[in-house]
Amino acid sequence: MKWVGRCGECQAWGAVEEIGAPRLRTVATSAVTAAAQPIGEIDPEAARSRPTGVDELDRVLGGGLVPGVVVLLAGEPGVGKSTLLLDVAAKFATPQTPTLYVTGEESRAQVRLRADRVSALSPNLFLAAETDVGAVLKHVDDVAPQLLVVDSVQTMAVAEVDGAAGGVTQVRQVASALIAVAKERGIATVLVGHVTKDGSIAGPRVLEHLVDVVLQFEGERHSRLRLVRAIKNRYGACDEVGCFDLGEQGIIGLADPSGLFLTRRNDPVPGTCVTVALEGRRPVVAEVQALVARSSLATPRRSTSGLDNARVSMVLAVTERRAEVSLHNADVFTATVGGVRLTEPASDLAVALAVASAAADRPLPAGLVVVGEVGLAGEVRPVQGVERRLAEAARLGFTHALAPAHSGSAPADMQVTEVDDLRHAIASAFRHAVIPLRRPSPN
Ligand SMILES: Nc1ncnc2c1ncn2[C@@H]1O[C@H](COP(=O)(O)OP(=O)(O)OP(=O)(O)O)[C@@H](O)[C@H]1O
Ligand SMILES: [Mg+2]
Repeated sequence: MKWVGRCGECQAWGAVEEIGAPRLRTVATSAVTAAAQPIGEIDPEAARSRPTGVDELDRVLGGGLVPGVVVLLAGEPGVGKSTLLLDVAAKFATPQTPTLYVTGEESRAQVRLRADRVSALSPNLFLAAETDVGAVLKHVDDVAPQLLVVDSVQTMAVAEVDGAAGGVTQVRQVASALIAVAKERGIATVLVGHVTKDGSIAGPRVLEHLVDVVLQFEGERHSRLRLVRAIKNRYGACDEVGCFDLGEQGIIGLADPSGLFLTRRNDPVPGTCVTVALEGRRPVVAEVQALVARSSLATPRRSTSGLDNARVSMVLAVTERRAEVSLHNADVFTATVGGVRLTEPASDLAVALAVASAAADRPLPAGLVVVGEVGLAGEVRPVQGVERRLAEAARLGFTHALAPAHSGSAPADMQVTEVDDLRHAIASAFRHAVIPLRRPSPN
């Protein structure tokens, strides 16, 4: 404490008074929702998940839907969001667990027609067409659902809030209102969100922090394959992927998608190479195809489909420089089969071998599968989960593999050659002119 004669602010003498110790500001107490309890005494049953009945979705969710969970299913227009959720809603609905599907985009009759087409009629599935959240909450009161589907969050609006439906403010308010109801009543809630290719429409992105689970629904327009990937999951791991086949009869889970991404043929053709990708934790056997053709253009064409453009350019440059595969004056096309996307570095070796095979016009053996990342110096680098990948390839009848060094133990009925650089890998691949594909075991 020291004496101050003159105020530093207004320069007046004797104006400074002692005020004593500063007082703490306090917050008034309010009612608690439930008394704090020792953690061991809290009943975990309330957060136990319940399977939806769609296995591939349950796999991604980590078992099923927990009461009160709020899931955002984000995807591009037309990818199949409504179809999937109608199927889930119908399968989930029982007399004890009624389901409410609210559509803001289609009429009830349109949804009914879709339900007929994809066999999603259930007496316990209730349908409402609304765009006002207040009205949705009224339906929730009436139906008392265990699962609420809102298709889509961008078409809903809260009347008290300014701004058009789909705007950031509205989307946030709509989600907050629905989340509050979901948590209060323990209703599992799935919100549909539209995103464009670059994810630029603000809607779903601003919701990612608010919801418990964010699922990304992916698929190419020209293919029937659909993948559901968890980007965030408060109740489970994020490393699982659900695979679906979207057809006229609806959306069907693919428990074993591996064989889809291969071309079954008796005689091997030049320019194809099989690899095993990891989709989440699941190994998926897939084929890379390449075509190398003499170019008449000043700048030869490089085109890829289903692969990462930048990685393919890098692999082509490495293949040309380090493995002396001549690609100048040649158009190079690379693609995957069946609409699968291979963006992992582990598919590099397959791209390089497919291109080398196409350039030499020599087929690789039919029973050969390869995995490995290719580095700029032409080295073949280790990748994750080689044992799991090769076990899956062996299950599908592949008998020989090229893999990076120190890849762990090989499956019993597979011969694995460890390769450390690309030149060595290409030489090993062509050494065996014929390695037939074994008939896959029936299980
Ligand atoms: N009558 C039909 N017969 C066969 N296939 C159909 C039919 N109607 C729709 N489809 C297919 O189902 C796909 C998925 O439609 P769905 O409405 O589920 O997608 P969505 O993601 O909900 O689209 P949106 O973003 O417009 O809401 C369509 O792209 C179309 O290929
Ligand atoms: Mg839809």
